[in-house]
Amino acid sequence: MAARGSEPELPLFAEKRANDPEAALKLLATEAQGCTRCDLYKNATQTVFGEGPVDARMMLVGEQPGDQEDLAGRPFVGPAGRVLDAALEAARIERSGVYITNAVKHFKNEPRGKRRLHKKPDTSEIDICRFWLDNEIAIVRPRIVVALGATAARGIMRKSLAINANRGRIIALPGGGRGLITVHPSYLLRIEEERDKRREFDLLVRDLGIAREAASRARS
Ligand code: URA
Repeated sequence: MAARGSEPELPLFAEKRANDPEAALKLLATEAQGCTRCDLYKNATQTVFGEGPVDARMMLVGEQPGDQEDLAGRPFVGPAGRVLDAALEAARIERSGVYITNAVKHFKNEPRGKRRLHKKPDTSEIDICRFWLDNEIAIVRPRIVVALGATAARGIMRKSLAINANRGRIIALPGGGRGLITVHPSYLLRIEEERDKRREFDLLVRDLGIAREAASRARS
């Protein structure tokens, strides 16, 4: 894999961002379609870029596209997306008003016969892909960036953090702005006991509610 770390943003994005954030985001998404910054593009169908209003007050960051997202080219449209949709609704957050993206833009997987097994991105892949995430944050300038799970937490915080010790409170992002860490929706899919699942769902909704409140407040 190419050992390329975070690089300064392309000046073009910075310039466009100031005058026309929508055009800057479009340009960024187009550039990302051809991304070969690490090797993950080789096994993926396409780059799955973020989607949502360019002036969204809240940004949600997931881990990486899954199998269905890789095929559809949109984030959170598979099973984890359905959990996320239910949690957003319970937290009284309109999905259409939120910008939704991932820390890693290609589906990391291992082909096994006809199936493709999900593989967790490693830290260098997250760090390389931060180039796109940082630019999305810089263009959208959300009032709150919510990291769903450990990969997203590393993406926004530039270091690995334990989820349980850090979840549910407003934190300062290293590049400026506010963030909040919570669990990834797919964590709920892995819980077998119904009561435990319900408790974890409620905690996710609580965290999203804290983010909603932060998004309603002016930038600090
Ligand atoms: N899981 C993620 O982290 N992101 C998606 O887009 C889908 C599943």
